[in-house]
Amino acid sequence: MTCDLLITGGTVCNAHGMAPADVAIVGERIDAVGPPGSLAHRTTPATTIINATNRLVCPGFIDPHVHIHLPFMGNAAKDDHDSASRAALAGGTTTLIEMICPGPRDEPMTAFHDWSSRAARSWCDYSFHLGIVRFDDLARDQLRHIVADHAITSFKVFLAYKGALDISDEALFGVMTLAKKLGCTVTAHCENAEAIHQMQRRLLAEGKTEPRWHEPSRPPAIEALGVHHFATFLRLTGATGYIVHTSCRDAIEAAVAARQQGARLYVEVVAPHLSLDRSLTELDGFEGAKYIMSPPLREADHVRFLWDALRAGFIDTIATDHAPFDFVGQKDMGRDDFTKIPNGIPSIQERVLLLHTLGVATGLINVPQMVDHCSTRAARIFGLYPRKGVIAPGSDADIAILDPRSTGQFSRREAQSRVDYCAFEGRPRVGAITHTILRGRIRYQDGQCVGPPGGGTLIPRSPAGAVPVSPMETLS
Ligand code: URP
Ligand code: ZN
Ligand code: ZN
Repeated sequence: MTCDLLITGGTVCNAHGMAPADVAIVGERIDAVGPPGSLAHRTTPATTIINATNRLVCPGFIDPHVHIHLPFMGNAAKDDHDSASRAALAGGTTTLIEMICPGPRDEPMTAFHDWSSRAARSWCDYSFHLGIVRFDDLARDQLRHIVADHAITSFKVFLAYKGALDISDEALFGVMTLAKKLGCTVTAHCENAEAIHQMQRRLLAEGKTEPRWHEPSRPPAIEALGVHHFATFLRLTGATGYIVHTSCRDAIEAAVAARQQGARLYVEVVAPHLSLDRSLTELDGFEGAKYIMSPPLREADHVRFLWDALRAGFIDTIATDHAPFDFVGQKDMGRDDFTKIPNGIPSIQERVLLLHTLGVATGLINVPQMVDHCSTRAARIFGLYPRKGVIAPGSDADIAILDPRSTGQFSRREAQSRVDYCAFEGRPRVGAITHTILRGRIRYQDGQCVGPPGGGTLIPRSPAGAVPVSPMETLS
C-alpha cells in the first residue's frame, strides 16, 4: 500500500526504546514502522517525505495538566484555545488535557459545554479533567452523564484555595466513591487550604506583602499534609488518584509512603518546578510576581530532589500547569498583597525542550525516559493509550520531530502564547522542534504553525486502570 507521509532517516524514540527507523503514515494513522530505507517503495509522487536525518522522531507529546480558559482570582488567563494550542504544537505537544474549573455555584454540565465550545478552536487534540467544586445531587447526576456520554474519565479537586475552589471532606469522600464506581481517576491539587489561609493572614499582619512571602505562606509541610490527606481518602475509598504539580521532597515522600501503604496513586511534576527555584520570587521591582504559582517554586535543594526522584522512578508524568497571566495588568494586582497575585507560570511551549535541555542533554535521563514522562505515561494513566503516546502501527500519527543538536535560548520572541513574559527568558535551550504532526497532518514546521486554524478534536478515553501503566507504577 502507498503512504501519504513518510518520515525517513530519523531515530524513532518510544518509551520502551529507540532505534533508527522510518515511519509510513496513511491518512490519520501510523501504518508501518520499519528499518531505514525499507518503506521507500510505499512512496508515490503524491507522498510528502520528511528527511529526519540526525533527528529524534517522538510520539506527539501529551500535556495532562493545562489551564486555558481559566477564570481565577478575579482574572481570566490570557490564552485562548487558539493561542495555547499553537504554543503547544510549537513545543511538540499534540494532545492537551485541560482542567475544567467551574465556580462553586456552577453546574458541571454548563461548565462542560462552555469549555467544550471554546476548545473547538484547538489545533491540538484534547480532553478534560472535570473540576468538581460543587457536589450535590444535581452535580453528581450531571457528572455521571458527562462521563458516560463523552468518555471523560478523570475528575479534578482542589484541597487548596479556601472559599474559592476547595472541597469539603464530605464531598471529597463522595467524589472518590463516585469516581471508583465510574472508572474515573481523581486528580488533586494537594495543599491544605486552611493552613495556607492562616499563614497568609499572619504574614500580611506582619507587613510581609511582597511576592517573596508567597512560598513561606505555603511551605513544604502544608503540601505534604495535603498529599497525606488525599492519599488517606484514596485508601479508604479504593479510588485511583493523581497528584498534580508535586513540588518538593516532603510531598514526594508522602506520596511514596502512601503508595507503599497501598494507595493507588500517580505523581505529576511540572516543568516550572523542575527548572526554576524560589530565589526568583525575590527579584527586585516586583519581578518576582512572574514566578508566583501554587504550590510555589521551592528552594534549589527541592529542585535537585525532584530530578533524583524522577531518575529513581517515583514520578510518573511531567506536565506544565500552564496558567498564563500577564505581568502587566494581572500579576501586578498583587503589588501590595502577594495573596492577590494570580497564580501560574506558563510553560506549554517550553516543557519538552526544558526537559531535553536540563535532563537529556545533561545525561540525567535518556530520551525514552523523556518520551515516557512527557507522553506515554500520561496516555496510559488517562486512557489514551495506545491511540496516543506511542509510535506504532495503528496509533494516531501524532509525531514530534526534535533536532537534539540545535541550540539557542528560550525567549518570548518565539512564543505563541499571548502572555506578556517568558519565565525562561534568556536561559539556554538544547534542542528544537522542527515538525509537529497531528493525525497525519503537519501542523508546525520550522517556527510556524501551518494549515487552517483548529483541527483538534475531543478524544474519548478509557476508564482508569484499563491500561497497565508500567512496571514503575509501584515502588518497592
Ligand atoms: O499556580 C497555579 N498552579 N495556578 C493554576 C491553578 C492551579 O492551582 O492549578
Ligand atoms: Zn493547582
Ligand atoms: Zn493547575
